[in-house]
Amino acid sequence: MWFKLKHFIGNIEETPEPIETNIIGKIPNWINGNFLRNGPGKFEIGNHKFNHWFDGMALLHQFKIDNGQVTYKSRFLSSSSYQVNKETSRIAVSEFGTLTMPDPCKNFFQRFLSRFELPKPTDNGNVNFMTYKGDYYVSTETNYMHKVDPETLESVKKVDWSKFIAVNGATAHPHTEPDGTTYNMGNSYSPKAHYNIIRVPPTKTNEDETLEGATVLCSIPSKDKSRPSYYHSFGESKHYVVFIEQPVKLDLMKIVPDLSCTNYDIFFIWLKLVSSSHNPSSMSELFKQIVYMHVSSPCAALSSGKVKKGGPPPK
Ligand SMILES: [Fe+2]
Repeated sequence: MWFKLKHFIGNIEETPEPIETNIIGKIPNWINGNFLRNGPGKFEIGNHKFNHWFDGMALLHQFKIDNGQVTYKSRFLSSSSYQVNKETSRIAVSEFGTLTMPDPCKNFFQRFLSRFELPKPTDNGNVNFMTYKGDYYVSTETNYMHKVDPETLESVKKVDWSKFIAVNGATAHPHTEPDGTTYNMGNSYSPKAHYNIIRVPPTKTNEDETLEGATVLCSIPSKDKSRPSYYHSFGESKHYVVFIEQPVKLDLMKIVPDLSCTNYDIFFIWLKLVSSSHNPSSMSELFKQIVYMHVSSPCAALSSGKVKKGGPPPK
């Protein structure tokens, strides 16, 4: 068990040149293409270790399936976080569970002041591969993601959501329709916390394009303006986006450096009961309340926690 765990959270070497694989059984001839996955692959930088499994540097994997044969290769995402960590041989950018320690090269006064700077969002896209306008991207849950070449696994461009629409980030689990239109959700925190339904059009006019044409279809105000819910993904049917405002909250007032804090755990709070006026007797009862939390929301398109994308109402 320890042997497996050690490899799960230890540093892994990238293998940018394709290697042969041993195949057990037979892969049907009609399966061809690249099977792409990503995840954390480097947990130690110099003498520093990340505190959380979510924090490891993104390693992109490609299984190339071609006429019954499979080759494998992997490459670390050349993110800004990865590059600066590598150059300084220390963890220089904060991640989900690891706050950056002050740069030892700074003098005492500079280190003191750095405690009062907001953490810079990471672009360590280690959560998921996704497509926008037919191009491949990797992202985490900040405002940054990377457009990547699915053949070489190299980053083509670093993309900032906030340059296109007023969001502070987006989930790593968007939904792409058969026509290529992609829907995602992202929070905005100013002046009050909102959940935003994002639409990215299916086509591009030139190869360099990324999120041009992205729009916010609908903004749903957080029930608690300074404590929006954390969500990792959301649901979608043919005509609706389904969003559940869950009881795990982000405490925005605490997203500032704290002299005593060593990780982001303090930013999350679990609300045992969402509303004191209800007394749910079970988890299903609790979630039923949450799903219907926004029935009278000012968001015109919202109905029972569902945001209409177009088409007839649900039966
Ligand atoms: Fe996920």
